[in-house]
Amino acid sequence: MSKPTVVVTRQLPPAALNPILERCDARYWDSEEPIERGTLLEWVQGADGLYCLLTDTVDDELLNAAGPGLRVVATMSVGYDHVDVAALRKRGIILGNTPGVLTETTAELAVALLLATARRLPEGTHAVESGTWPIWRPMWMTGRDIHGSTVGIVGLGRIGAAFARMLGGFGCRILYTGPNEKPEAAQAVNATFAPMDALLQESDFVAVHCPLNEQTRALFSTEAFGKMKATAVLINTSRGGVVDQDALYQALVQGEIAAAGLDVTDPEPLPADHPLVSLENCVILPHIGSATVATRTKMAVMTTENLLAGVEGRPLPNQVD
Ligand code: DGY
Repeated sequence: MSKPTVVVTRQLPPAALNPILERCDARYWDSEEPIERGTLLEWVQGADGLYCLLTDTVDDELLNAAGPGLRVVATMSVGYDHVDVAALRKRGIILGNTPGVLTETTAELAVALLLATARRLPEGTHAVESGTWPIWRPMWMTGRDIHGSTVGIVGLGRIGAAFARMLGGFGCRILYTGPNEKPEAAQAVNATFAPMDALLQESDFVAVHCPLNEQTRALFSTEAFGKMKATAVLINTSRGGVVDQDALYQALVQGEIAAAGLDVTDPEPLPADHPLVSLENCVILPHIGSATVATRTKMAVMTTENLLAGVEGRPLPNQVD
């Protein structure tokens, strides 16, 4: 029996790659850099499965190029805003992603970013490195306490809930918002539902954990920043598109909010000369929420399992509904 044909768009760790090479005819982009679009459009022709990353746009153009044989798209990410889900559904193509395995790791990074932003850690290390560390002063490099603060979580999904649980140790009051109340998840982490406006008005820290979609695109706008406390800190580890970055820049410069910590931006990479990069009260990380060896390996392997299940006609371990 002939092997299924699959396209793999990036270099993978052996644990994820080897099963694909054994069981499929693989068109493998063996590089740390993204596959060029033109090459991808050629390679998908006649493929049964596609292993992609969040840097690959999966849209009508690509699916048309693939043709009717494509059965499964497996993305090595939990987020799938780079995939046109309706276009897949129209063609009966299934989509697999990687929820669960990155939850704790990403929540840890969100806590780290919250601490780094609130306590001004990058500014502190910069002062040491640049020789501008002055003699001890009462109010130098003073930041904000996490303990006793109100933290507003936008999106109490897996990662938002893990983040809330981790903050339990700081004795924070936790609010959450989202399209639906989630009484069970909320009770488990001692969180209270609040409408978006109330959450913005009451929170000392606002943490974004919702997916990017048409409802959440540019959710953090001039209007939203106007509702936040002047002392508030925004933390975003979901997708850059949830925040209107021009509005964020203005809010930070004009003191409408105190600081922001971003692990995600739009675009990525964010150019080093972007106005947000110049701000001391904006801490920017290069989308490393899930970046531990163990978690990235699990994500890569889970994506392989989704891909192989799809091309071999078995249910996917993690299928997007
Ligand atoms: C995801 O999986 O969607 C993250 O953004 C990368 O880990």
